[in-house]
Amino acid sequence: MSSPSLPGGAWNLGDSTVNRFGYGAMQLAGPWVMGPPADREGALAVLRAAVEIGVTHIDTSIAYGPRVTNDIIREALHPYPPSLLVATKVGGRRDAQGGWPTARRPEELREQVLDSLTTLGVESLDLVYLRMGDAQGPRAASLAEPFEALVALQKEGLVRQLGVTNVTAEQVDEARAIAPIVSVQNMYNLAHRHDDALIDRLAADGIAYVPFFPLGGFTPLQSDALSAVAARRGSTPMAVALAWLLHRSPNILLIPGTSKVAHLRENAAGAALTLAAEDLDELDRIGRPTGSAAG
Ligand SMILES: NC(=O)c1ccc[n+]([C@@H]2O[C@H](COP(=O)([O-])OP(=O)(O)OC[C@H]3O[C@@H](n4cnc5c(N)ncnc54)[C@H](OP(=O)(O)O)[C@@H]3O)[C@@H](O)[C@H]2O)c1
Repeated sequence: MSSPSLPGGAWNLGDSTVNRFGYGAMQLAGPWVMGPPADREGALAVLRAAVEIGVTHIDTSIAYGPRVTNDIIREALHPYPPSLLVATKVGGRRDAQGGWPTARRPEELREQVLDSLTTLGVESLDLVYLRMGDAQGPRAASLAEPFEALVALQKEGLVRQLGVTNVTAEQVDEARAIAPIVSVQNMYNLAHRHDDALIDRLAADGIAYVPFFPLGGFTPLQSDALSAVAARRGSTPMAVALAWLLHRSPNILLIPGTSKVAHLRENAAGAALTLAAEDLDELDRIGRPTGSAAG
């Protein structure tokens, strides 16, 4: 059986090979990522359509809902195709107001890993990110204690591969000095380019970089240059933003989020857009700090 082809080809994520065009499941929970979605059948359909078009990398977290997106993923796709990698995150929980307080003590991480195993219906999690920082972004602090706790869970066989998310470049180095990681997941898109140097360093070392909010997240990307390139190519700003990420570096894996099958298909088709040198030049100027000659 020939596998469907998605833009960007494949990447070796540690011991797995995944298509670079993946899917982020956060949008499948209710408003503000709390509670069930208004359209549960629609959410199941998005996941099934994702696998049908060839997605082999789905990103989730026990904190989405909480538990809601994991439950929907299990219902839609379990037993999982062998080619599918489900990445999840630990290090945060939800409070009654929908906030995202940190939960990184070893016993809290263990509880979240066990909860993730149950909700996803697996004996071992494919890839677990330790989430650092807070809702405002990364914060300088040692990750040694929580990361070592995750390494212990990996040694127990509950987790196969490790990553870090919402981290500073220094925290990436600190984690790598403790144990191998296969991926870093941080906020990055055409307009938010703080990690340019980190992306290039990780690419050289064969480590994936997974940008969250590739389309701007809760605030869609807006820029005259982006609209101009999209108009010139007869495309959409969303497609251009995704295609640009695939062009940016071979270690970038896409996990755009959507609650709609039509948008999923549109994004998969749109990310295949070929950008010319003049487009890349124009797009490159959107998020590059003024006065900087190189990333
Ligand atoms: N590590 C972390 O701390 C962290 C933080 C945030 C997110 N994440 C991960 O990153 C993934 C991606 O982030 P995200 O989903 O928040 O943001 P995103 O992918 O940047 O954007 C998603 C938004 O874009 C809309 N959208 C998608 N495709 C569209 C299209 N073709 N046309 C019009 N609108 C479209 C979606 O609405 P519709 O539902 O209407 O399509 C949704 O509102 C998440 O799913 C999650 O797995 C990780």
